[in-house]
Amino acid sequence: MSVTVATRPFDGQKPGTSGLRKKVKVYQQPHYAENYIQSIFDSLEGFAGKTLVVGGDGRFYNTDVIQTAIRMAAANGFGRVIVGQNGLLSTPAASHVIRHHKAYGGLILSASHNPGGPDGDFGIKYNMGNGGPAPEKVTDAVFARSKVITAYKTTTTPDIDLTRTGKTMIEGMTAEVIDPVADYAQLMQQLFDFDAIRALFKSGFRMKFDGMGAITGPYAKVILEGMLGAPQGTVINGTPLPDFGGHHPDPNLVHAKELCDTVMLGSDFDFGAASDGDGDRNLIVGRGIYVTPSDSLAIIAANAACASGYRTGIAGIARSMPTSCAPDRVAKKLGIACYETPTGWKFFGNLLDAGLATVCGEESFGTGSNHVREKDGLWAVLMWLNILASTRKSVADIVTAHWAEYGRNFYSRHDYEEVESESANRLMDGLRANLPAIKAAHGLTTADDFAYDDPVDKSHTSSQGIRLVFADGARIIYRLSGTGTAGATLRVYLERYIADPALHGMETQAALQDLIALSRSIADIPGHTARTEPTVIT
Ligand code: G1P
Ligand code: ZN
Repeated sequence: MSVTVATRPFDGQKPGTSGLRKKVKVYQQPHYAENYIQSIFDSLEGFAGKTLVVGGDGRFYNTDVIQTAIRMAAANGFGRVIVGQNGLLSTPAASHVIRHHKAYGGLILSASHNPGGPDGDFGIKYNMGNGGPAPEKVTDAVFARSKVITAYKTTTTPDIDLTRTGKTMIEGMTAEVIDPVADYAQLMQQLFDFDAIRALFKSGFRMKFDGMGAITGPYAKVILEGMLGAPQGTVINGTPLPDFGGHHPDPNLVHAKELCDTVMLGSDFDFGAASDGDGDRNLIVGRGIYVTPSDSLAIIAANAACASGYRTGIAGIARSMPTSCAPDRVAKKLGIACYETPTGWKFFGNLLDAGLATVCGEESFGTGSNHVREKDGLWAVLMWLNILASTRKSVADIVTAHWAEYGRNFYSRHDYEEVESESANRLMDGLRANLPAIKAAHGLTTADDFAYDDPVDKSHTSSQGIRLVFADGARIIYRLSGTGTAGATLRVYLERYIADPALHGMETQAALQDLIALSRSIADIPGHTARTEPTVIT
């Protein structure tokens, strides 16, 4: 039976960079998830009888909210819900399932790389029919609705069996449980040269893929060990667990240290990769080398034609503003545009839909293409495997040859986590107020608060980060994270371009040393945050 339940608004249901992320304990409050889901449905139009995709990264509380979402979808008039078996769908797979099954939209339950478990984080994100995150006009409407909501609709029906594929009827709506991997694996097979990659593995090439106890394990096992013939055991931490086995499922040098040490410092493996909680991020390492996400995007763009799905070339590249300018150099050589967008994958959607960009990426371990409307961890891994299979070069040779051809953009991000919000805001306000003086004092070519005019829908987005650009192209960028759940995280992005190959072997932090010192003094980071060092350097 459908029922209407009275409720009262909760404060702070404002979606951030990527949906509404809160502590599990916040989400566990009675009506909290329901209010947010109803606010989403109330902000959408014309979905009666249509299909909604629902799935998540398997973290603690995932299946509870999935059952709630299914009941609410039925009561709100959706015609069909497609849900991944056991409630699982990686973020890129969810994006593909939405597109492939021509769904109206989808709910992705994830807090990405944030820790899971009862004391960890949870999140809900709404994606549109193009498979991409809802644009700001929708998320703003959801927030506005959440502030005035008085009731939500649900059913009194029992939980459906998520463990088995198949269909169940709920109040006139079909709930269809699907294999979470099949559609996605098929898409990957269309995009990449699986025969060449199989031959690479046959020749003795060895890799490790770290699923970090999160969603990509099942995908990587089917694709790498199953379809591509990589040896059993190639995938480690491959079972999705509610608390990610205690891992912090963020594929970077800090949280994937064991993988990095094994592959980069040892001699047993040619290639190492990892993906995050919900499968959209990627980390790429080779023997003796870590590939920065910015370089990875540039290298993928330069070599995309190795892969069957990109043989005819790419239309354009898009990168987020803080991502290094390495992709711009590739775009210039290819004679295509490189778009600079605010942080967050949602800003790539219009460029991809309009065919202006084919590949896109962010410095935060996100890379992807027009095959879905999310970043895609395994896609990046398969693209690298395809490039390695086609060229039969090592990761290090590919990267150093790329630098020799284009020059090297030394790049690092320094994060100051869990800073008191007021101090972080004061720091940013201080920078904003002093931009003309900072510009003059350091002879900068640009000192601004980045704003973006979308070339497709002409929307304007302001206050996307303080950008200081030096005369030689070096950059310091400051922004506050929009995904954290405790206090504020100050992100400082540092970049310096060096053309001379004789200097490309420098250690990154050494190459950026003076910029690092300047970044701290210009913003008075120690004064505002009482921190002398960042908490995470990537
Ligand atoms: C972070 C990353 C950003 C990415 C987002 C979602 O957002 O910096 O590039 O799109 O996670 O994965 P932030 O916390 O910086 O707002
Ligand atoms: Zn993620």
